[in-house]
Amino acid sequence: MLVCGGGDCKKRGSKEFRKALKKELRDKGMLGDVRVDSTGCLGLCKHGPNAVVYPGGTWYVGLTQRDVPEIVERHLEGGEPVQELAARFHPRKKKRK
Ligand code: FES
Repeated sequence: MLVCGGGDCKKRGSKEFRKALKKELRDKGMLGDVRVDSTGCLGLCKHGPNAVVYPGGTWYVGLTQRDVPEIVERHLEGGEPVQELAARFHPRKKKRK
């Protein structure tokens, strides 16, 4: 799971989200199963804090610490994206020339 560590997302709480995420994973004994990395700006700053879960490339935007248990239980543990929280858009793909 890539959690944006860019300036705007940091201002909006991405660091706290990431910390809560790691704590939840540690408490559930999943820290070795799920890799959580901080990444640079993902390009959707005004919607932050943002994160992307792979495989699948599911985007979550506007995250708060309250979202952590649901994302961990349903997506990272259960394997299904949390549709209510997942972004309904995907960044544009580059056009092939
Ligand atoms: S700072 Fe997070 S998307 Fe730009």
